[in-house]
Amino acid sequence: MRRPIIAGNWKMNKLPSEARGFAREMVKLLSDIQERDILLCPPYVSLPCVVNACRGSNIKVGAQNIYFEKEGAFTGEVSADMLKEIGVEYVIIGHSERREYFKEDDEMVNKKLKRAISVGLIPIFCIGEKEEEREKGMKKDVVYQQLVKGLSGIELENMVIAYEPVWAIGTGKTATPEDAEEMHLFIRETLGKIYNEELAEFVRIQYGGSVRSDNIDSLMAQLDIDGTLVGGASLNIDSFVRIVRFVYSRNIGLRKNM
Ligand code: 13P
Repeated sequence: MRRPIIAGNWKMNKLPSEARGFAREMVKLLSDIQERDILLCPPYVSLPCVVNACRGSNIKVGAQNIYFEKEGAFTGEVSADMLKEIGVEYVIIGHSERREYFKEDDEMVNKKLKRAISVGLIPIFCIGEKEEEREKGMKKDVVYQQLVKGLSGIELENMVIAYEPVWAIGTGKTATPEDAEEMHLFIRETLGKIYNEELAEFVRIQYGGSVRSDNIDSLMAQLDIDGTLVGGASLNIDSFVRIVRFVYSRNIGLRKNM
């Protein structure tokens, strides 16, 4: 069984003082949760206080980016080692907003994944097609390319993949659970080809894109959806708590397309 992983990507939201209070509240409200990984990914400046607030709890902390070089004259960048030292355990890499606004390509994403793994940070490797690519019937080609290029020369162990169709991010347009499952299964099959099927069965694949408290249960009911990467709805205490407390209704062992 793959352990579910629910992550809140706060993007560029919440001041450090707000972040601390929010994290403390999460620790209180979610202390009984077992067998699920819970992750908060605040902006860099809030990482130390969120790490402190979550210390000793069942909530882990992730960053939203790293630079791919180890250290040096890279003004404004933050290294993987720095994050590791302050107690960060995960890092989101290749988010579509970074690909779009900061021109990150597959090659850079690949270097960042390698850097993260080299220091023992667990990467959340984001992939997903844009609306026009989906309309042209290219969704699988795009995701396939992102996987092959992004993972070039990388061991898969201890990595989370996040499938985030770009057209679903922040738009309120969620992929239907069946639509998402089709892509998750395709991703798992592709990982099976790149690596091997046994390994691919262990990899956790999150869905991201307008996940909310009212669609989480049906998404998590899908066999290859192992968690979610949540943007907007992770900023609100009630909705994030409900998302983490999703209700399982899986038909274990029944894979629809088989
Ligand atoms: P929303 O949940 O706001 O659509 O954002 C998804 C996302 O980009 C998470 O990384």
